[in-house]
Amino acid sequence: MITGKPLYTVNQIQDRVKELADQVSRDFKGKELVVISILKGAFMFTSDLVRHIKVPLTLDFIIASSYLKTDSTGDITIHSDIRENIMDKDVLLVEDIIDSGVTLNYIRERLLQRRPSSLKICGLLDKRARREVDVPIDYIGFEIPDVFIVGYGLDYDNKYRNLPYLAVFKKESEEG
Ligand code: IMP
Ligand code: MG
Repeated sequence: MITGKPLYTVNQIQDRVKELADQVSRDFKGKELVVISILKGAFMFTSDLVRHIKVPLTLDFIIASSYLKTDSTGDITIHSDIRENIMDKDVLLVEDIIDSGVTLNYIRERLLQRRPSSLKICGLLDKRARREVDVPIDYIGFEIPDVFIVGYGLDYDNKYRNLPYLAVFKKESEEG
């Protein structure tokens, strides 16, 4: 179940997302961007982020899921790949949360093989304490402790993605 008050409220999220978008707009001034959103988790974050980005951009999506998350080698499945040609383009990869880093690292390496002129990463949440693979993150919304988060696109068992805020989720068995 979802515990107590939101970890981050709608307003806190919106303010931070706007700040990130402003930073991206400044860094890519005079350029064009290809924004690649990792679904499903980053759908809400991406839609809020891009509406504040001021440089011209195209949008693409990659649908990925990870299994065997305790295994540092990971097992990532790409269910649907990007359709844009990213060679010589400036790419911004958008992810909901970086935990072990395995998912993001896998997708990053895969995209780098297509020789973009640059590849930056924007993550909403960073669970740094759990990192197993060192992956460079250029823009980060919030650094969070090792708790399980739902809402604002993030799920537990594919549910709660529609919550407009970020909340801590505890399984029934973990409740005191
Ligand atoms: P990583 O490969 O271990 O970095 O895991 C990243 C993926 O696991 C994210 O894209 C999420 O889909 C999922 N994930 C990790 N932590 C959480 C969480 O606290 N809530 C919801 N999903 C999570
Ligand atoms: Mg997920």
